Amino acid sequence: MLATVKPSGSKSEIYADLALQARGIFEGERDWLANAANLSAIIFNGLDDLNWAGFYFLRDGELVLGPFQGKPACVRIALGRGVCGTAAEQRKTIVVEDVEKFPGHIACDAASRSEIVVPLISNGKLVGVLDVDAPIGSRFDEEDRIGIEKLTALWVAASDIML
Ligand code: SME
Repeated sequence: MLATVKPSGSKSEIYADLALQARGIFEGERDWLANAANLSAIIFNGLDDLNWAGFYFLRDGELVLGPFQGKPACVRIALGRGVCGTAAEQRKTIVVEDVEKFPGHIACDAASRSEIVVPLISNGKLVGVLDVDAPIGSRFDEEDRIGIEKLTALWVAASDIML
C-alpha cells in the first residue's frame, strides 16, 4: 500500500487512518531509518497546516537531524535546548501553542508558529524525538498528542532501531 490519500473527518478519524497507513507501510519492514522516512511523509502529507515534520536521533549525547519533510533544518540540537532538546531531556511530549513564548525555541523555519515534540523511547532508552511544526498558532491539542504518540509507538514497535 504505497498510494496514500489525505484522510478527512474528525481528528480521531484522521489519526486512525494515519495509523492504518503506518501499519501498512511498516508491514514486513524493520529498517528503522526507512520506516522513519515513511512516517515523516505520512504525517506531513496526511495532516493539514504543517510546515515541517521529522526526526532527530540521539547520537553521542546530542540530537542529530534524521528523515524529515519540509525546509532544511538545524542539524544538531543539544539536550535541554529548544523544544526538541527539552522534550528529549524530560522524556515527555511537549505541545507549544506559541513558539515565541517558549524560552530558547530554535527557529529553523521562521514560518513555525506552534509545534509538538514527542520523545522516542525504545526498551526504556531515549532514541530521539519526532518534531511536527505548524505555520499557525495553537495547531496541536490533546487529540493530536494522542494521535502522534500512537504513530511514534507504531514506529518504535515496527523497527529494529540501530543508532
Ligand atoms: N523547533 C525546534 C527546532 C527544530 S526545527 O523547528 C525543525 C526546537 O525548538 O526544538
